[in-house]
Amino acid sequence: MTKTIEALLTETRIFNPSDKLVKESNVKIWMNRHGIKTYEELLEKAKNTEWFWDEIAKELEWFKPWNRVLEWIPPHARWFIRGEFNIAHNALDRHINTPRQNKTAYIWEGERGGVRKLTYHDLYQESNKLAAALKNLGIKKGDRVMIYLPMILELPIAMLACAKIGAVHCVVFSGFSPNALRERVNNAEAKIIITADGGYRRGKIIQTKKNTDEALRNTPTVKNVIVVRRTGEQIEMAPERDLWWDEIVKNTSAPSETQTTPLSSEDELFILYTSGTTGKPKGVVHVHGGYAVGIYNTLKWVFDVKEKDVWWCTADIGWVTGHSYAVYAPLMLGTTSIMYEGAPDYPSPDRWWSIIEKHKATILYTAPTSIRMFMKYGEEWTKKHNLSSLRLLGSVGEPINPEAWMWYYKNIGNEQCQIMDTWWQTETGNFMISPLPITPLKPGSAAKPLPGIEADVVDEDGRPVVGKGGYLVIKKPWPAMLRTLYKDLGRYEQQYWSKFLDSYLAGDIARKDEDGYFWFQGRADDVLNIAGHRIGTAEVESALVSHPAVAEAAAIGVPDVIKGEIIKAFIILKKETEPSAELEKELKSWVGKEISPIAKPELIEFVESLPKTRSGKIMRRVLKAKELGESLGDTSTLEE
Ligand code: PRX
Repeated sequence: MTKTIEALLTETRIFNPSDKLVKESNVKIWMNRHGIKTYEELLEKAKNTEWFWDEIAKELEWFKPWNRVLEWIPPHARWFIRGEFNIAHNALDRHINTPRQNKTAYIWEGERGGVRKLTYHDLYQESNKLAAALKNLGIKKGDRVMIYLPMILELPIAMLACAKIGAVHCVVFSGFSPNALRERVNNAEAKIIITADGGYRRGKIIQTKKNTDEALRNTPTVKNVIVVRRTGEQIEMAPERDLWWDEIVKNTSAPSETQTTPLSSEDELFILYTSGTTGKPKGVVHVHGGYAVGIYNTLKWVFDVKEKDVWWCTADIGWVTGHSYAVYAPLMLGTTSIMYEGAPDYPSPDRWWSIIEKHKATILYTAPTSIRMFMKYGEEWTKKHNLSSLRLLGSVGEPINPEAWMWYYKNIGNEQCQIMDTWWQTETGNFMISPLPITPLKPGSAAKPLPGIEADVVDEDGRPVVGKGGYLVIKKPWPAMLRTLYKDLGRYEQQYWSKFLDSYLAGDIARKDEDGYFWFQGRADDVLNIAGHRIGTAEVESALVSHPAVAEAAAIGVPDVIKGEIIKAFIILKKETEPSAELEKELKSWVGKEISPIAKPELIEFVESLPKTRSGKIMRRVLKAKELGESLGDTSTLEE
């Protein structure tokens, strides 16, 4: 008798991959080539990290090989020393003289329904043209180019064009506000911004150009704005500064001859800002060589991408998931990817399922918060579509609760697809803790550190702990790790490498079970995870106190069924101001405007005082415990 999934889940909690999946998987093929028999043996062998990454790096094309795999002067790592490389060459150029040039690189679907396909050759031509245009505008190796675009094909084209000429791209999620954009432009000292006249989201137009104009009021380094025509809406074009994308690329000569610049493997590829524990976002810096090697191999192995697959990573390219796994890694593997412009449930809750059916997606990679949203809509929406093209599923961004796991497994995967729960961060560049297709799964666990990654869970003193929560640390450098925080080496050293000697502190709390499986339990610091988006409490607080009515503010995360966490803000008003429903509404939209709608507090409580330490630091922990009706813990340092 076959058991129900629920019975299996409660009895054994282990889901084994099929023999076929194991046998045909990319990782198994590699293991066979290296005489490795089991998953455990693979993990053991790969502890020789320099040997392991050396083997992997050889699968990519280098202009000049490295003479040393790693130079590690803690906490600074350099990988593939003296190697000459360019990620754009591996993502595009190397496919061009092969039959892959005619393969579809992207199937793009607009929110209003239009479909646009680009072959590898098209993508190569388009990025070459923009690369030539950027050069004509004076962009040189190392210059920073800001990209503030909705989910349209010009976004990966622009990234590739920058990479090709050695310019450093800095993508800002198109949902960010003008203030957030300005702060990032000024920190990066960008020379150019690439944006669009607008984009479509949930039937509305997002005003990317208008936001850019507002952001550029005080940005001395920006010389030009390149504007993609997307909506055709009337927008203002500053005569000396603003240029239409289609016009500047029209006049570039012989695009196929735009040479890709050979770079050092340690040359910067991009800066991506992410939230930390202060109000100031951190500019995470990634480089060409190691980053390429890491993301290439993790996608190839974890999601087992093959020539015929149609891969869909649903993340917005404005986040690291999109950078690594919607742009660079799938292109290096010569994969066909789906890219969708709009909201997941627009115009109806089966939008994603219709996309999977129409374009015959074989692998879907998304976030638990989306799964939980679809769970709420119910199965009638998934049942309308034939999802049988799917063969593997993935999850990222936050812990996936077993209920959501089961729903995903049953309703999307039809009990046929293993789910790869990938734990990683903007800083890590690639998946770090994740199953492989050969790994038995425990729903809710991200399984074990990937080959070549040495991670552990340790207590306050750095001693490994099993069976209870502790700090997640990475104990050896890895190729795709961040190299620094832009213009803030001190913060890089302090933030990630100061708590434990020579170990990277991720900021997450995890538990390792007796089988060595990792279970993530959330953050150890004041970083929130709102629907898979990372937001610092300090950012929200500093946005709130910039409002004229607010004297003090404290933000905490409160559990939420769909978003995982929502923001609650406690506010002390200035003397002459009275609390009111209107003010509450105004403060919410103020934060939306200052940072982004994703950072809006959903709950606001006006208070007379806040719990503080004697040195004046707000004790968010106490607020949170009180909110959740838990014990207040140690309050000996509490002043009020
Ligand atoms: O807390 C972890 C959570 O997301 C954080 C990283 O956020 P960000 O840099 O924005 O990157 C998100 C996409 C990689 C981590 O510190 N996180 C990410 N993936 C998982 C996760 N928590 C649990 N399980 C995951 N699979």
